[in-house]
Amino acid sequence: MELSQPAVRLGGRIECPERPLCHCFGVSHAEVQETIEQNDLVSVRGITQVCGAGGGCTACHRHLKRLLNENAVAKRLQHGSIAYSAE
Ligand code: FES
Repeated sequence: MELSQPAVRLGGRIECPERPLCHCFGVSHAEVQETIEQNDLVSVRGITQVCGAGGGCTACHRHLKRLLNENAVAKRLQHGSIAYSAE
């Protein structure tokens, strides 16, 4: 099996981007990430409306929220509204 994207850290674990993040709807981590970025989403409800993830049992909501938070921080870093220092 060849992966199109590298593994990513999710909740302290290394996750395969192609593995379903939302099992109810079979939506992968990579698909959710792309959905958030392309649609400027800020809520689980928004993700559910666009790709279906999170619309079932809600077990994946904590992962969806984490991705939303990571995306928001990445955007703020890109736009310089927060500064990052490794020190
Ligand atoms: S795993 Fe996402 S709604 Fe059930």
